[in-house]
Amino acid sequence: MPIRADSRSPRPPWAARPHRPAGTRLHTVSLRQVVGGLREGGPLGLMERTGRQAQGALARLDLGTFRPFLVTHPDHLRRVLRDHGDNYRRGTAMWKAMGRLTGLGIAGEGPRWRASRDLWCKGLAVGAHTFADRTASSVDGAVAELARRVATGATVDASAEMTRVVLRAVNPAFFGSRIPQWQCERLAAAVAVAFDSLLWRMALPLVPLAVPVPGDRAFARATRTVNEILLPLIRWARHERQPGPDLMSVLLEGADADGRALSDAQVAQDIVALFVAGSESSALTLTWTWVALAKHPDIAAAVRREADAVLGGGPPRRDHARHLVLTRQVLAEVCRLYAMAWAVPRTAAAEDVIDGVTIPAGATLVLSPYLTHRLPQFWEQPLRFDPGRFTEERVRGRHPLAYLPFGDGPHQCVGQSFFFRQAVLVVAAMISRFDVAVPGPAEPRAAVALRPRGRVDLVLTPRR
Ligand code: HEM
Repeated sequence: MPIRADSRSPRPPWAARPHRPAGTRLHTVSLRQVVGGLREGGPLGLMERTGRQAQGALARLDLGTFRPFLVTHPDHLRRVLRDHGDNYRRGTAMWKAMGRLTGLGIAGEGPRWRASRDLWCKGLAVGAHTFADRTASSVDGAVAELARRVATGATVDASAEMTRVVLRAVNPAFFGSRIPQWQCERLAAAVAVAFDSLLWRMALPLVPLAVPVPGDRAFARATRTVNEILLPLIRWARHERQPGPDLMSVLLEGADADGRALSDAQVAQDIVALFVAGSESSALTLTWTWVALAKHPDIAAAVRREADAVLGGGPPRRDHARHLVLTRQVLAEVCRLYAMAWAVPRTAAAEDVIDGVTIPAGATLVLSPYLTHRLPQFWEQPLRFDPGRFTEERVRGRHPLAYLPFGDGPHQCVGQSFFFRQAVLVVAAMISRFDVAVPGPAEPRAAVALRPRGRVDLVLTPRR
């Protein structure tokens, strides 16, 4: 028997402004419109156009044999992620393909996912706390190293530099600094190649693994590199028997759902998941932060004033993070406009009805934080960059599901606080040392994550 969600309960305060309620109609996008939209603006352009037309109503895209629902309205998201979250699972092609790289632990479902999530939460909480001082000094070291490397007015690749800074900052908490920086960078690069080369497998889920598709060779090469780096390291760490409070130690000491210790391969897959989930999203969000600040010099100046006041011209320290209030709001606003997880897929296990629309069992739903964050019913002038949206008062007055760059429900990101703690220090350390300019255009493009179209240059001029 289908279960019904009724979004017409009395209006809570965040819905006080008049707006069209969650619609009872389904907005359909025909194959012709899909093709036209893709031609015009690629996947992101198609999504934006659909989002504008549907205005929060459920939409269904006709892609021939594949007809996913697009879910953007916060009431519908609440249904899918919270109230009836058990019905909506990670069974889609994207998650299946990703499982080849990250295993069926943290990126999966069921008891193995739960056991893995518990380990991650424990590892991140303990590691982040224990290594907070080292994270702060690693940020300082990475930014100081950047300052030594760049001459006045040097141009650097934003994503590459932000990846370097992030990897150095997270190394103590993730690995207890067992991996030297150069090896960590090599590993991150191999994981990125492996992840990207899964795109075809995600797009062609019915093609058996025995039939080659583009990307297979690159995937095999990259996973070989990953294993060459990680497996000896894991064996050595087990042999060393000096568990620390870092996430890797917690995984090595931890148990699977059946109570057995994780195998070397499982630990390696979880570490790969850590790179996939944690480091690229953090580095890209920081990259977009420089793009946004370069477009808004008044906000950049206020962020610098805050950094100067809090850091006092010295290196960042752990206790600075909670005083960098505006910097945190800027990052939250960047996460709204440049939601890294622009599309989060789920599969309906059983038939359901959302706002009058029947969702058949087995249907794919694509949740799009990117579009939800642009709904004018919930965001005034949604395309305007305005960190003031994230004052406590304004957050309290908003629909709780109108902002979800870190997901929501059982799979909500476990690294959100971790991200903000290190990212505010990175921004403060960078902006207090450099004038940062972004000379070229930087537009988003929809890969698995929201990446810039082409390279984003940063011109870094050391401050006098
Ligand atoms: C800007 C930075 C980040 C963004 C935008 C982000 C976004 C997300 C989103 C949207 C999800 C939910 C996926 C789903 O519902 O299926 C998620 C899950 C996850 N994130 Fe993050 N994340 C970020 C940083 C991090 C960091 C730094 C870590 C690790 C230290 C991390 C670890 C994870 C893990 C392990 C999950 C899976 C949780 C589960 O399935 O139970 N993330 N993230």
